[in-house]
Amino acid sequence: MKILVTGGTGYIGSHTVVELQQQGFEVVIIDNLSNSQIGVIDAITSITGIKPHFEQFDLVNRELTSQFFSRHTDIMGVIHFAAFKAVGESVEKPLKYYRNNLVSLMNILESMSEFNIPNLVFSSSCTVYGQPDELPVSEKAPTKKAESPYGNTKQISEEIIQDTLKSSKMNAIALRYFNPIGAHESAKIGELPLGVPNNLVPFITQTAIGIRQQLSVFGDDYNTPDGTAVRDYIHVVDLAQAHVIAVKRMIELKMKQSFEIFNLGTGTGLSVLDVITSFERVSGEKLNYKIVGRRAGDIEQVWANSDFSNEVLGWKAKKTVDEMTASAWKWEKVYREIV
Ligand code: UD1
Repeated sequence: MKILVTGGTGYIGSHTVVELQQQGFEVVIIDNLSNSQIGVIDAITSITGIKPHFEQFDLVNRELTSQFFSRHTDIMGVIHFAAFKAVGESVEKPLKYYRNNLVSLMNILESMSEFNIPNLVFSSSCTVYGQPDELPVSEKAPTKKAESPYGNTKQISEEIIQDTLKSSKMNAIALRYFNPIGAHESAKIGELPLGVPNNLVPFITQTAIGIRQQLSVFGDDYNTPDGTAVRDYIHVVDLAQAHVIAVKRMIELKMKQSFEIFNLGTGTGLSVLDVITSFERVSGEKLNYKIVGRRAGDIEQVWANSDFSNEVLGWKAKKTVDEMTASAWKWEKVYREIV
């Protein structure tokens, strides 16, 4: 059974390709390599023993997208990861984000409809909830006005998908990720940000290994137990496995309605200092960090109510925060070749 993974050489995409292959799916990857490297294909192959079919082009190009689907009419489902995701950059360059994230989605939906490809799994984000009124936040919580163009592309994308489904036979599942961190246990794939990382864990591991001088902790005056902001960190492999379950749910015709939404989180909120403490515990390293002011656009705290995913998908995040930070550290060291 053939599954298309867009953005399959990226961070979450590559881990999902591995899980799909290990569950017997044939995987085809499209990626324009704008934020990932071609070597990821070899890394995936060395983990699973199977080389995924790979095509490099930009899904914003409608013609190329349509041509691709005309050559692969036997695709059973599409998992659409390919998108820009840097919150700060999206504020500087909103049109870059709207064009890339929305046009590519529309091109995919048009081609899926043209070639009767029935199933879409969409990468969404907990950012659609903003700062929720109630915690933990469930899928029933209202979405709030997005803080950034990036966040807005996720909200609009969900709406575009929903509207498209109303007039087609397609099904879609939107998976709303909390904060994915960590790396595959083989340390052959992991998070590989280009340039200075925006996200917490790659910044921690790059600081510990000496590429960055010091981690800035953004704010310790939040209304949280230790004053630093709280998130629901989830191991990327747990997250990847949920995609396989979502794809199977669609293929096995188990969906209750044509559009379903699931939170993917652990259900536990951890502060920035909790993550640093875990990293120091598992690595034995003392992290150089200092508290600075809040980062613009950050929310105070969010963590998931994942009951719906647990019950309906039969999926539960299994890995602990120490497993997350240890795997991220192992990946950083192997990637920099010092172990
Ligand atoms: C953000 C987005 C999320 C998006 C993700 C992709 C929001 C609310 N969330 O997650 O939707 O999918 O980026 O990149 O917009 N921190 C530090 N120092 C650092 C880096 C981060 O203290 O150098 C803190 C942040 O203030 C935050 C936590 O660590 O409290 C996590 O930050 P980060 O990893 O950037 O993820 P989010 O901002 O939660």
